[in-house]
Amino acid sequence: MVNDFSGMDELYRDFILDHYRNPRNAGTLESPDASFEDNNPLCGDKIRMDLKLRDGLVDDIKFSGRGCAISQASASLLTEAVKGKPVAEIAKIGKEDVLENLGINISAARLKCALLGLKVLKQALALKTTEDL
Ligand code: FES
Repeated sequence: MVNDFSGMDELYRDFILDHYRNPRNAGTLESPDASFEDNNPLCGDKIRMDLKLRDGLVDDIKFSGRGCAISQASASLLTEAVKGKPVAEIAKIGKEDVLENLGINISAARLKCALLGLKVLKQALALKTTEDL
């Protein structure tokens, strides 16, 4: 996977690798209020997100799965960014926000890796909202 970072700025590479090797909020939650799992169809790598919600906020969030450094680091960063935030605010997070948070140039081929976590998170919350209707 280190080859993926050739030519990339050292600082950003270390930052991504740190999240990959020491993912924040890794694991699963018992009886989550919202949960979803999906894969990247190009490689089969998976991410699952479990959330606990309280008073319209993300009270807790965990992610699990397997995948390349970009997908795992992106999911790790995303969980940090949304923990404690209002669900309504999370609905506004776009792919530009995720890419900006990663702080590196993502090639078109790796976009699905970088955005898998966001896709899973949005789907988990969308299903929860549908259930509540
Ligand atoms: Fe599978 Fe990146 S190569 S998610």
